Amino acid sequence: MKSLALCCIALVSSAQTQAQEHVNGQLWMDTEGNHINAHGGNIIQYGDTYYWYGENRPYRGFTTEAGVGVYSSKDLKTWKNEGIALAVSEEAGHDIERGCIMERPKVLYNAKTNKFVMLFHLELKGRGYEAARVAFAVSDTPTGPFRFVRSTRVNANKWPFDMNKKAQKLAQQTNAAQWKDWWSAEWRKEVEKGMYLWRDMQGGQMSRDMTLYVDKDGKAYHITSSQENLTLLVSELTDDYLDFTGKYNMVAPGGQNEAPCIFQHEGTYWLICSGCTGWAPNEARMFSAPSIWGPWTQHPSPFVGVATGYRDMPANKTFGAQGTYIYEMNGKPIFMADIWNERHLSNSLHLWLPIDFDGQGVPVIRWVDKAF
Ligand code: DGJ
Repeated sequence: MKSLALCCIALVSSAQTQAQEHVNGQLWMDTEGNHINAHGGNIIQYGDTYYWYGENRPYRGFTTEAGVGVYSSKDLKTWKNEGIALAVSEEAGHDIERGCIMERPKVLYNAKTNKFVMLFHLELKGRGYEAARVAFAVSDTPTGPFRFVRSTRVNANKWPFDMNKKAQKLAQQTNAAQWKDWWSAEWRKEVEKGMYLWRDMQGGQMSRDMTLYVDKDGKAYHITSSQENLTLLVSELTDDYLDFTGKYNMVAPGGQNEAPCIFQHEGTYWLICSGCTGWAPNEARMFSAPSIWGPWTQHPSPFVGVATGYRDMPANKTFGAQGTYIYEMNGKPIFMADIWNERHLSNSLHLWLPIDFDGQGVPVIRWVDKAF
């Protein structure tokens, strides 16, 4: 009996040790010994607790069967599963009906309203990736339950604030319906003129991969992959974070960037994105700007070396991962990413890497087994 008790104590303490390990390239266990099923998400701190939100993915299939999950931690290492923060709806035809696709949820705490606000990429059930909407949900507590508010395309009937009349006129001369074949030099010119911006002017711009960013002055921004994933949009949110003000602009038109992640360092805004290759990894792209509104300058990928702890994946494959968020831990930016497991999305691995800076203050990201 005594030896059985000792054995149980040993098992429990080994699960606890495991819970605090977090080695990049391996499964990350929660306090119950299950892999952390929170993908494409973000972390916030509220009081003395950290909350990690993310896609709760099924082991098989890729539609959303549960919702957005949330975990809590006091040390960013030991994560307790707090359950589903925003659950799918059982009502047929509901925007977030079970079987829809909820991706890249991001939560912010709004001090003015004392609410937790979640925005996420939503695809309607049975419609693949064509709806391309952003959805809003709100809660009084960090672990929810969040209440679904609405889903929408973005910036309907609004031009980017910095697009002059001449450029608007050019965009209005384009006709997306006439381009059946993509990727020619002519097609690209039309995209850069704003062909998809004009196509979606009335119904609102597409919004897929997304992140949120709160600037030092408290203003919040939604950054999303729009226009058939070809162009990023930066849009200002209202003070309660529950709507758009209508002020927005485009970043890298035609550049085909997704998985946007952003942070600020010594007055420079750094945006790290991926290319568009589905669940497969590709080379990261990096941009800098003196303001959230640009102008954005492209730099080489910040990734260098190889992933010694994960199949020796090279830097030009972002070590096998795709970014989701940049979390600043005591002033140190941490690049959070997912190593997608397309066959078993719930088992996609987490990769957290510290962002360093070279002599010119440009971000550099190297493989380390543990972020901290
Ligand atoms: C890449 C995106 O970054 C993911 O969030 C997801 O939408 C996959 N594409 C789907 O293929």
